[in-house]
Amino acid sequence: MMRKIGTAVALLLLVVGVFFAFAGQGSETMLLPVEGKYGAVDLPHWDHQESLGDCNACHGLFPQEAGAIDRLKTEKALKKKQVMNNCRGCHRSMTKAGKASGPIKCFDCHAAG
Ligand code: HEC
Ligand code: HEC
Ligand code: HEC
Repeated sequence: MMRKIGTAVALLLLVVGVFFAFAGQGSETMLLPVEGKYGAVDLPHWDHQESLGDCNACHGLFPQEAGAIDRLKTEKALKKKQVMNNCRGCHRSMTKAGKASGPIKCFDCHAAG
């Protein structure tokens, strides 16, 4: 019995440990530069790491590296708004499913509203 409880506690600590090791990587928040009239976009990076639990929800499109989006857009490896459509698409489908998510309207993301 005690042994089972011990195992359960060890497992719980492991899960909690993995969770905290997982979130909180890279910048806590960032301001993604966008040229033109729409303006930069805020991204609460750590909040997303925590709530999504999946780096590849975004990093499937670009590596975990500052400036990666702009570099890949210049190299034409990412289309204009491709990353944006991924952000917005997720917010839209979660909202439709009745879950809390992020902005869908242009100037709820872009600063120059
Ligand atoms: C909601 C989208 C999103 C998720 C989810 C996400 N990231 Fe990021 N991450 C970004 C963006 C955007 C950048 C900046 C890319 C750029 O500057 O072009 C970035 C940059 C980074 C960087 C480079 C340093 C920095 O902060 O600028 C690291 C390291 C990083 N992410 C790690 C992670 C890890 C580890 C996870 C999962 C635990 C994760 N990210 C989940 C969007 C995300
Ligand atoms: C969830 C946040 C979000 C919403 C909502 C959003 N955007 Fe964006 N937008 C971004 C991000 C992030 C980028 C930079 C990455 C990219 O270009 O994919 C961007 C980039 C852009 C660009 C620059 C593309 C380029 O490479 O020249 C334009 C123009 C733009 N958005 C217009 C809009 C318009 C119009 C709307 C409303 C219909 C909108 N955005 C809604 C996040 C958002
Ligand atoms: C796979 C789903 C998903 C993707 C991709 C995603 N988000 Fe979100 N976003 C969420 C969820 C869930 C929340 C609400 C919970 C939270 O804050 O983490 C949210 C919340 C937000 C908020 C509101 C935060 C607040 O404090 O009100 C902003 C701003 C935002 N996202 C911007 C972005 C941008 C910019 C991108 C793309 C670079 C992005 N998101 C990509 C799921 C996503």
